[in-house]
Amino acid sequence: MNLELSEEQTAVRQLAKDFVAREIAPHVIEWDRAEEVDRSIVKKLGQVGFLGLTVDEEYGGSGGDHLAYCLVTEELGRGDSSVRGIVSVSLGLVAKSIAYWGSEEQKRRWLPGLTSGEHVGCFGLTEPGTGSDAGQLSTRAVRDGDDYVINGTKMFITNGTWADVVLLFARSTDAPGHKGVSAFLVPTDTPGLSRRTIHGKLGLRGQATAELVFEDVRVPASTMMAPEGKGFAVAMSALAKGRMSVAAGCVGIAQAALDAAVTYATQREQFGKTIAHHQLVQELISDIAVDVDAARLLTWRVADLVDRGLPFTTESSKAKLFASEAAVRAANNALQVFGGYGYIDEYPAGKLLRDARVMTLYEGTSQIQKLVIGRALTGVSAF
Ligand code: CAA
Repeated sequence: MNLELSEEQTAVRQLAKDFVAREIAPHVIEWDRAEEVDRSIVKKLGQVGFLGLTVDEEYGGSGGDHLAYCLVTEELGRGDSSVRGIVSVSLGLVAKSIAYWGSEEQKRRWLPGLTSGEHVGCFGLTEPGTGSDAGQLSTRAVRDGDDYVINGTKMFITNGTWADVVLLFARSTDAPGHKGVSAFLVPTDTPGLSRRTIHGKLGLRGQATAELVFEDVRVPASTMMAPEGKGFAVAMSALAKGRMSVAAGCVGIAQAALDAAVTYATQREQFGKTIAHHQLVQELISDIAVDVDAARLLTWRVADLVDRGLPFTTESSKAKLFASEAAVRAANNALQVFGGYGYIDEYPAGKLLRDARVMTLYEGTSQIQKLVIGRALTGVSAF
């Protein structure tokens, strides 16, 4: 693997750095306190091409490879994980799934809006009673003539209250476990679908996380995406790449923690010299730096495998596992460098730690990643 970035990759990373400095950094504290990022950010993300990365230009995408996608998600994660999550879900989980699994009609209906930022997508898998054991989900889609009628509840849905379309996973046959699950593209203005924003989150406070309730939601059978009973494969293939983008976002958190810790340590004085002179502070900083590099290399390896068309699912789980745990450690170490100032939100470390904490939970907990890796190595499934 060549670790030198191409001219295009270097340019897209610089574009992302400039975008973060201009459109995100000035508002991070305000959005976190208000518990909502400014919705105009979605159109801006679309205009600059970040919501169309890796999607064919024919459908409004901006092309690019998966390393470029990881560079952008890293920079957005460095700026604000709430914004990074909009891209990882609307593009990474929803648009990319439509591009891969959708019919021509579904691609033409949804992709131009999702890639331009006109529309937002959300991923309706998790339910109040099924998180890790997603194959047991209980939302039902019952065939009625040319329609399906959907009933059920989805929980912790990123972009949930903003979304124009839900990539919904529902049980449409009596086949057991994941084999009965199908995927649907449900417009959120369909009667019977109600949404509630979930407030009081520890981190990602700017993100529109929601509960979605489906009560007799009637959609045409043509909204089913991929063959009936293949919904779980749609979800798993989306998450395999999704975990790479979460890992990249975590590299961004860890890099932000490193930048903040170095800047602070070289300015703050204690015992007559900057705290950077104290070896235990240098230890905290070097621990963060090693975590950043290791997490980034694991993430880039996944992007390289994806771009070369090689198997990547286990490597994606490894990257997501390591990078999410590394982001928590890095933010916590940065907070330690900041001392008491790290505990208030005028300084960055506290928010980085709060945002990092969910990364070991969503898109598959650290424990699920370990079981996925263990299954690949031993051939024995714990599920
Ligand atoms: N591509 C295509 N198909 C795939 C696939 C992939 N990458 N991975 C699995 N599949 C298919 C399999 O071939 C299989 O299909 P068949 O039955 O037809 O053979 C089917 O999917 C089931 O695969 P598994 O046997 O691996 O399924 P399992 O039941 O053993 O999976 C599990 C267990 C790995 C724990 C899985 O349930 C899992 O990943 N759980 C975690 C759920 C999760 O990550 N939730 C995140 C919620 S979304 C979120 O957080 C988004 C957000 O808003 C931020």
